[in-house]
Amino acid sequence: MERTFIAIKPDGVQRGLIAEIISRFEHKGFKLVAIKILVPSKEFAQKHYHDLKDRPFFNGLCAFLSSGPVVAMERESKYGRKLIGATDPQKSEPGTIRGDLAVVVGRNIIQGSDGPETAKDEINLWFKPQELVSYKSNAEKWIYEGN
Ligand code: GTP
Ligand code: MG
Repeated sequence: MERTFIAIKPDGVQRGLIAEIISRFEHKGFKLVAIKILVPSKEFAQKHYHDLKDRPFFNGLCAFLSSGPVVAMERESKYGRKLIGATDPQKSEPGTIRGDLAVVVGRNIIQGSDGPETAKDEINLWFKPQELVSYKSNAEKWIYEGN
């Protein structure tokens, strides 16, 4: 199963949306395989968003990501971005996390890998291999066909 990296950004944590966001993925049926809370350093945030280093909002974005606790997760899921919604919450559909819970692009409460390759890089950056757990979920046979 494909794996993806998801982080609840400092705005999501401060607004008391940790459980709300986790429950959206949990209710969908995406299996949680790693989770922790941490305050990333500015250097760490710059590493995470390195592909955006030439964008005008890069400094503000990295300062923001490192401004408080972040909840980092790894999940088994192929379609996580659909649940998250568009980068700009004003363009996110209602029913998505950003569409329902966020208002502006610089405070969009959650980050999600944009594809399998970035997911691998992000998982390697945020988690050590021993922080990941492998287990069989008994719900899987009710969520996926052919199990
Ligand atoms: P992440 O899941 O956080 O990576 O967002 P994304 O993949 O939907 O968007 P992208 O990687 O292009 O941008 C990373 C983050 O930068 C976004 O989640 C926004 O918080 C922020 N960002 C992107 N575009 C803008 C912008 O035009 N202005 C501001 N202020 N922030 C932006
Ligand atoms: Mg991105």
